[in-house]
Amino acid sequence: MQTGLENGDGMDELMDDAKPRSLPADRESRPVTVIGGGTLGRRIALMFSTRGGASRIYDLSAPVREAAVTFVRGTLPEVVATIDGGTPGTVEAFDDLAAAVRGAWLVVEAVPERLDLKKQVFGDLDRLADADAILASNSSSYASRMFLDQVTHPERVLNMHFYMPPVTNGVDLMSSGHTDRAILDLLLTELPQFGVFPFEARKQSTGFIYNRVWAAIKREALAVVAEGVSTPEEFDQMWMINLRTKIGPFRMMDRVGLDVALDIENHYAAENPHLPNSPRELLQSYVDASNLGVKSGGGFYDDYPSAAESGS
Ligand SMILES: NC(=O)c1ccc[n+]([C@@H]2O[C@H](COP(=O)([O-])OP(=O)(O)OC[C@H]3O[C@@H](n4cnc5c(N)ncnc54)[C@H](O)[C@@H]3O)[C@@H](O)[C@H]2O)c1
Repeated sequence: MQTGLENGDGMDELMDDAKPRSLPADRESRPVTVIGGGTLGRRIALMFSTRGGASRIYDLSAPVREAAVTFVRGTLPEVVATIDGGTPGTVEAFDDLAAAVRGAWLVVEAVPERLDLKKQVFGDLDRLADADAILASNSSSYASRMFLDQVTHPERVLNMHFYMPPVTNGVDLMSSGHTDRAILDLLLTELPQFGVFPFEARKQSTGFIYNRVWAAIKREALAVVAEGVSTPEEFDQMWMINLRTKIGPFRMMDRVGLDVALDIENHYAAENPHLPNSPRELLQSYVDASNLGVKSGGGFYDDYPSAAESGS
């Protein structure tokens, strides 16, 4: 294994530690497993169900497992119709992690944005998944190199960050600093067949590529409202008029989940203490009132079905 020091530069450069491994074979006949079936996990499982294969969802919560499978099955026909060569696959929920990952060629982690939890999950995945399985994180703001404490095969770990499929279908890929180059190349080639479009962050970057800019937009939009300069509705209206989009940042944050948006912003702030407090304080006030956005029935907007009615 080559290290930065042996390389003479002393820097934690991204690709130096990559060591080749065998790529997962027979991918067409093996499932993709998603860990965490919340807002994003179920959407990731949906996209991997569009080519006739099997996807699996593992979540600790029985109601989430049920809602996630209902969401994938209900949404799949319309999404498959938009994908070249699309064929509906199957989706199944699991309450046992070992069974959920057995045989999978790809495992995508989508549990809450908390570092201790991510580290524990990656340790478990490294122990339980097939030897050739790729282990990817959907984290919005943590580099996967931070999850490696209990991982013995870091060359199969990477960031694979989705946005809001099936509508917003870009994907950031980023090496853990050890990821086998062949795994990145495989995913760059294979993901588009599932209707999602990968771009590689070529250097270590908190927030990857597009997501880093989106974080700055959210932060300033929140500051504008926190300072009383505008309201969420009026900000979104102006945004939609100027950029000709269907929704604005506040509606989008409601879809993401305000608790998730807060976790992400807390991580950026921990890395950069100069960031303003008011965006986090505004998010915190909504979270404290259990107004988490679409998933709780209300957030910056209150025109959502209640959490109990919502399958999404
Ligand atoms: N919400 C978004 O728009 C969005 C977009 C891109 C990336 N992400 C990232 O995806 C990840 C998940 O976000 P989300 O919005 O889907 O969160 P969420 O809260 O909607 O879902 C997380 C799910 O993980 C489950 N969970 C918790 N601990 C678990 C464990 N140990 N094993 C299995 N399941 C467990 C929870 O029961 C919950 O259903 C985060 O890292 C977030 O940064 C979110």
